[in-house]
Amino acid sequence: MCGIVGYVGPRDCSDVLVSALTKLEYRGYDSAGIAVFENGKIEVAKSKGRLSDLVEKMKKEGKPQGHAGIGHTRWATHGEPSDVNSHPHSGRRVTIVHNGIIENYKDIKQFLIENDRTEFLSDTDTEVVAQLLDFYYDGNPIRCIRKVLHEIRGSFALGIVFADRPETVYAVRCESPLIVGQGKGEAFIASDVPAIIKYTKDYYLLEYGEIAVLKNGSVSFCDFHGRMVEKELKTADWDEDSAEKGGYPHFMIKEIHEQPTAVKTTITPRIENGLPDLSECGITPETLKSFNNIFIVACGTAMHAGMVGKYVIEKLARVSVTVDIASEFRYRDPLIGENDLVIIISQSGETADSKAVLNLVKGTKAKTLAIVNVKGSSIAREADMVIYTHAGPEIAVASTKAYMVQLAVMYLLAFEMAYAKGRIDEEKCRQLTGELVKMPEVIEKTINSISTVCQFISTQLITADSLLYIGRGLDYALSMEGSLKLKEISYIHSESYAAGELKHGTISLITDGMPVIAVATQNSLLEKTVSNIKEVKARGAMTIVICDEKAEIDRDAADYMVRIPKISQTLMPMVATVPMQLLAYYTSVNKGNDVDKPRNLAKSVTVE
Ligand code: G6P
Repeated sequence: MCGIVGYVGPRDCSDVLVSALTKLEYRGYDSAGIAVFENGKIEVAKSKGRLSDLVEKMKKEGKPQGHAGIGHTRWATHGEPSDVNSHPHSGRRVTIVHNGIIENYKDIKQFLIENDRTEFLSDTDTEVVAQLLDFYYDGNPIRCIRKVLHEIRGSFALGIVFADRPETVYAVRCESPLIVGQGKGEAFIASDVPAIIKYTKDYYLLEYGEIAVLKNGSVSFCDFHGRMVEKELKTADWDEDSAEKGGYPHFMIKEIHEQPTAVKTTITPRIENGLPDLSECGITPETLKSFNNIFIVACGTAMHAGMVGKYVIEKLARVSVTVDIASEFRYRDPLIGENDLVIIISQSGETADSKAVLNLVKGTKAKTLAIVNVKGSSIAREADMVIYTHAGPEIAVASTKAYMVQLAVMYLLAFEMAYAKGRIDEEKCRQLTGELVKMPEVIEKTINSISTVCQFISTQLITADSLLYIGRGLDYALSMEGSLKLKEISYIHSESYAAGELKHGTISLITDGMPVIAVATQNSLLEKTVSNIKEVKARGAMTIVICDEKAEIDRDAADYMVRIPKISQTLMPMVATVPMQLLAYYTSVNKGNDVDKPRNLAKSVTVE
C-alpha cells in the first residue's frame, strides 16, 4: 500500500522519482506527488489521480528542478483521494512521504494542537508525523527522527527531507518495506526493488528501526539508538526487462505468458533425479514426516493457492490441512499443536495480516514455512523455513504467475510429503514429479490454443451484472480464484460456489442469461458437475464450461466450452487456471477497464 521513493545524485531528480514511481503504482494509484530541493528550497508537486495526472500537471505548471528529493504514490487509508491528502506532507521545516499506517495519529494530533497550536491541512495520519517531526526538530535530523520513532505506533516507512539539510534524504523503516539503492555517485530509496532496477541492481535492505541518510551520492545507516550500522550490499537478480511490459499491452497478459518460465525456474532447482527435493530450502523428508496437522494461512489469491494445496496434500499425504484467511486466523485463537506446520503463502512477503500470523505462530512450538516470491521480504526472513517462488516481479495487481508458481510449490510439497510419509511409493512420486516437469510446456500450449476462444467468450460476459463460478473438489478450489480474478478487474459481481451446494439457496439467483462458468476438469466428479450445469441451464443460465479436450459433456449443457489439454486430475488446476485468467483479462479489456490497476485495489497490502 503506497509506494515511496527518494533520490540523491546527478540526474534530474523529478524524472528519476517519476520513473521509479511508475514501477510502484501497483502499490496504490489514487494520487501521487514529489518533493525536490530546488535551489536549496523544497518544492512540492502533487495531484489526485494517477501518476500520469501528476506528470501532466508538471508539464503545464513546471516540474521541480533539482537533484535530491522524495516521491509517493498513494492508496488512501486516512482521507479520501484528493490533492490536499496526497503526499508529500509538510510541517514548517520537514516534508515527508509515508507508506503504512500510524495507529496513534489521533492522540498525536491532539497533542500538537494543544501544545503547538498546529493547524492541519489534510485528513491524513502522515501529516501528523510531518508536524511531529517539525515539533521536535532542533537542527539534528537523526535525533529528531529517533524521538518521533519513540512516539508513533504502527507500521510505516518514511522518506524525509529537512528544509535546512538540502541535497539530503533521510529514510526510516518500521515494518513497511524499504530498500536503499546504491548506484555510482547516486543513491535511492524505494518500497520495492523494481523501482530502481533501471538505475542500479545494488541495494541495502533496511531493517526495523534503521535510519538511512542519503547524501553526496552515498549512504550511511544508523539504528534506532543512533548507533552507526554496517549493512550488506545485495544484488537484485531481476533485470530491467522484467519490470517492463516488453511489447505486451498490459503487465497482466505479459505475466500470463511468463508462467511457463516461472514454473520451470521454480521447480527445476527442487527436483533431483526425478524426485522432489526441498533440501535447498532447509526441508528434509524427516521434517516433512514429523507434522501432524498443517495450517495454510494467506490472503487473496495466495489463500486460493492454499485451497488447492489442501486438496492435494490431504489426498496424497493424508495429513489434515486447514486453510484460513490470515485476517481471520490471527484473531480466532487457533488451536496450534507442537507438531503442526503453519504455511504462510505470500507473493509480496509483506502482507500485514499474513505477517501478523507469522508472529502469532512464533509464540507457539509449531514450525512456520513461508512460500514467498519477494526475496528478503519480512515473511521470508522471519519464518523457520522458506521456499521462494521464482516468478520474478509481478506488477499487475491481479496475480497470475505468482499464483501459478504457488501451485507448483504446493505440488512439490505434497509429493515430497506423501513420499516421506510412505503414502505413495517411489514410482508414483516419480510419475507425479515427471508430470509437474512437463507443466511449463502444457501451460504454454494452453495459452496459445485458447486465447482466441476466451477473447470471444469474454464479449458475452461484458454486459453481465453478476455471474457464478462453480466446481467440485479441486475445481471448486480453482473456481474461487477464477471468480476473484474476474471480479477484481472486470467489476462484474462474481461468486464461486461448490456446484453441489447451489441447490441449497444460491440457485435462486439464476435468471435468464446469467453467466455460470463451470470448471469441470475432475473426471471422477464430472457426471455430478454436469448435472449441476444442467440444473442452472434449465433455469436460464448461460453456461461456459472449462473442461479437458476429452471430456464427454452433452453439447446442450454448455453454451460455450473451453477445452484444455488433458493431464492427470491432480495437476489439472495448473492448466485450468489459464482460461480463468484469460477470461478475466479479456473481459476487463473489453470493458475498457484499467486492467493492471483496478479501482480501489493495491497489490501489496501492508495495512490490516
Ligand atoms: C492483495 C493483492 C492480491 C494478493 C493479496 C495477498 O489483495 O491484490 O493479488 O493475493 O494481496 O498478497 P500477498 O503478497 O500476501 O500474496
